[in-house]
Amino acid sequence: MSASQVPRPSKKYLAMSLDPYREMFEEMDDMILILDDSGMIEFANTALRRQLGKNRIRFTGRNLSERNYFDDLLSAEELLKTIFEEKSFITRSKTHAGENRHLDWKTKVFVIGKKKKAMAIIRDMTEHMDLQKKVEDYTKNLQEKVYERTHELEKEKQKAIELHQAKALFLSKMSHELRTPLTAIRGYAELLEEDEISDADRKQFVSVIEKNARGLLEMINETLNMIKIEQDRYQIHEKTFSLCNLIKHLMDTYQVLAREKGLQFHCQLGEHIPENIYSDPIAVSQILTNLIGNAIKFTHKGKVSLSVKIRRFPKKITQKLYFYVSDTGIGIPSHYHKRVFRSFEQYLDNQSVHERGSGLGLAISHQLAKLLNGEVKLLTSDTQKGSTFVFSLPVRIKSA
Ligand SMILES: Nc1ncnc2c1ncn2[C@@H]1O[C@H](COP(=O)(O)OP(=O)(O)OP(=O)(O)O)[C@@H](O)[C@H]1O
Ligand SMILES: [Mg+2]
Repeated sequence: MSASQVPRPSKKYLAMSLDPYREMFEEMDDMILILDDSGMIEFANTALRRQLGKNRIRFTGRNLSERNYFDDLLSAEELLKTIFEEKSFITRSKTHAGENRHLDWKTKVFVIGKKKKAMAIIRDMTEHMDLQKKVEDYTKNLQEKVYERTHELEKEKQKAIELHQAKALFLSKMSHELRTPLTAIRGYAELLEEDEISDADRKQFVSVIEKNARGLLEMINETLNMIKIEQDRYQIHEKTFSLCNLIKHLMDTYQVLAREKGLQFHCQLGEHIPENIYSDPIAVSQILTNLIGNAIKFTHKGKVSLSVKIRRFPKKITQKLYFYVSDTGIGIPSHYHKRVFRSFEQYLDNQSVHERGSGLGLAISHQLAKLLNGEVKLLTSDTQKGSTFVFSLPVRIKSA
């Protein structure tokens, strides 16, 4: 018998013929749905009923359009159309417990008698999709981390190169800077050996030798301090000390230097400035020395001032002191503002040879302030008007 001669099964036969398979469909882990092209549900297996929390009686015989069984976004008509187009698609369905599940649909249309029917095999893909999402998130996260780390490493590498260059520059400058005062010291020492020099000359030679020796010592001390800070070996020694005495000592020292340059130097203490504070007097003094020293060094006319204010926090033993050092000097160009705190950085365009230090003062002050839980910042600087630096310092106030 040829294929065309095979008799077509009757309607009744087909209806009955599903019965032997019904049990098999019922037992399947995948969800099975059979419906006609009007959306009438003819069969929904246990897995499907369990998933959507409906019993068989209430599912079978109902129309797809009666309720949004499968998808919040897809209307019943759209769902029916998609099923009968035999497309693979995914819906987002809510279980009776209110849980969102992703269902993957594979559909097949067949004709029984003159009626079109579709069978859908539906698989719950939620775990698979969650896992896929997790893998995607993890990959994205990993990519971001790799990108961030690469970026950090590039920055660190750039920093290391800059530091290396700055150190090389510093060493060549340092040997030059050491040679200049040493030559002066040697030269004037030789002059001192001569018999026929007046007392006035002798006094002047000794003063030059002293000034150069002081400069050398300062440079060496700064370098050693910076090395200690960089190697985390700098020790902060806190104790109770007189803030007023420290400021008075700074004023006495720098008043002389300011006067020599024809500058005014004022100090203003705000209200409630305590007599004694608990901090590291050497570090505090070094920071203020650097800031005031710079202000006088880079100011050729006008004035330099130190103003001290306090911010009090009621009920706390720690208060915050602010030291403002202002000058009417040569100022710092804006593109240089961020760089002044880097080691060995100097804006050489604005400096004459005798003004040049080692370029470590602000870097050391910045690091020391950090060790004291404070901060040194360049508040404003203008090449026409001068600069203001501020050093903020949290301190415990103690009576003597
Ligand atoms: N008050 C200021 N006015 C103008 N320029 C300043 C001022 N303070 C700092 N600078 C600029 O910042 C640079 C860095 O200052 P820093 O105190 O670190 O170094 P230095 O004074 O040159 O050397 P050192 O302090 O080590 O003797 C200075 O060389 C100068 O160019
Ligand atoms: Mg300095």
